[in-house]
Amino acid sequence: MGIGGRFLPYGRQDIDADDLAAVAEALQSDYLTTGPTVGLFEKEFAAAVGARYAVASNSGTAALHLACLAADLGPGDSVIVPAITFMATANAARYCGAEVIFADVDPDSGLLTLETFQAALDANPRAVVRAVLPVHLNGYSVDMPSIRAIAEPRGIAVIEDACHALGGTQAAGNKSQAPVGACALSDMACFSLHPVKTVTSGEGGVTTTNDERAYKRMSRFRTHGITRDPAEWVYADQGFDADGAPNPWYHELAELGFNFRITDFACALGRSQMKRLPLFAARRRALMDRYRSLLKPLAPHIRAVPSQAGGDAVLHLSAVLIDFPAIGRSRAQAMQALKADGVGTQVHYIPVNRQPYYRRRYGHQRLPGADAYYERVLSIPLFTTMRDEDVDRVVDALRRLIP
Ligand SMILES: Cc1ncc(COP(=O)(O)O)c(C=O)c1O
Repeated sequence: MGIGGRFLPYGRQDIDADDLAAVAEALQSDYLTTGPTVGLFEKEFAAAVGARYAVASNSGTAALHLACLAADLGPGDSVIVPAITFMATANAARYCGAEVIFADVDPDSGLLTLETFQAALDANPRAVVRAVLPVHLNGYSVDMPSIRAIAEPRGIAVIEDACHALGGTQAAGNKSQAPVGACALSDMACFSLHPVKTVTSGEGGVTTTNDERAYKRMSRFRTHGITRDPAEWVYADQGFDADGAPNPWYHELAELGFNFRITDFACALGRSQMKRLPLFAARRRALMDRYRSLLKPLAPHIRAVPSQAGGDAVLHLSAVLIDFPAIGRSRAQAMQALKADGVGTQVHYIPVNRQPYYRRRYGHQRLPGADAYYERVLSIPLFTTMRDEDVDRVVDALRRLIP
């Protein structure tokens, strides 16, 4: 253990007695997998972010995959994904058979921009671009009015990867703001409920939408592609009895889906955690305010990823940009020194286009904004049970890196 006590990971969950009680109650109920809690969680989640519908699944990756399926992506289609993201954003498109076009990002925020989105389209004039997946990296929203303005006239679906951004607001056009997940300027928004995220259900994901058709399709894809809705059945002779009543056992496989179901006890945890979302958001914002003011004197060697205008973000990650040549240490050396001081760090993310799978498929691609972001970025501890003194300790450890 380094200076000042307990080891601070870059992120961790915040579980209280109410969460434990909610899970214990769910485990003692009649349902372990899909029961009434899943539907209740979906309704409450949709209401919390201001969307009409929410579909809960067993990971953020499944939430993205369901969205890509509902957007009817398939072979022959292309999807634009920013190079700085977790690989699941790109993989979701590939699961459907679509090709990925990696867009560059702003070098300081790591976000897809109007210019980098347009450049990706211009560089691929023959591609049938059917969707774009803006990623709200760290929790800062992409400028959605710009993305929508380019996507809408071209019939490009907008699927937000909001896995980092639960609880924040974003620009919604005409100087207004909307909660992230309300899908004010998108077709769908996808969230992860992994333990390091703002709210957790263990593993879990949610896709929100205002489109009833997308909602129904995602609900069906989540459970193998099975429909129990008599109105959707193809074989009336098998589905209905002589009096025209639906047969009680009958169901049909309408299309090929998956088992992306989430358990009732995971949703019990999710419901309990969502009650504390306003508290989590306030604490994360307070911690970030403290970081921002304490980090200011460390510039230009070390500085916080700049805040983005247009919305009031709730950050999942606290990321700093470090000029490693200027401090005379490699990133690995800096991470080791911070670890010795009890400070956990991580890199979010290696540009996805550099991953061997994508390199083999699409070849080498130079994306200067993504490369510049990746060269400097480091995530430092941010979680709600951090104390103010912990923030001070992290900044002290960072200060000691500067010669
Ligand atoms: C930006 C982003 N997209 C997608 C995912 C996938 O979420 P999950 O880990 O819940 O599958 C994550 C989670 O790490 C993420 O950070």
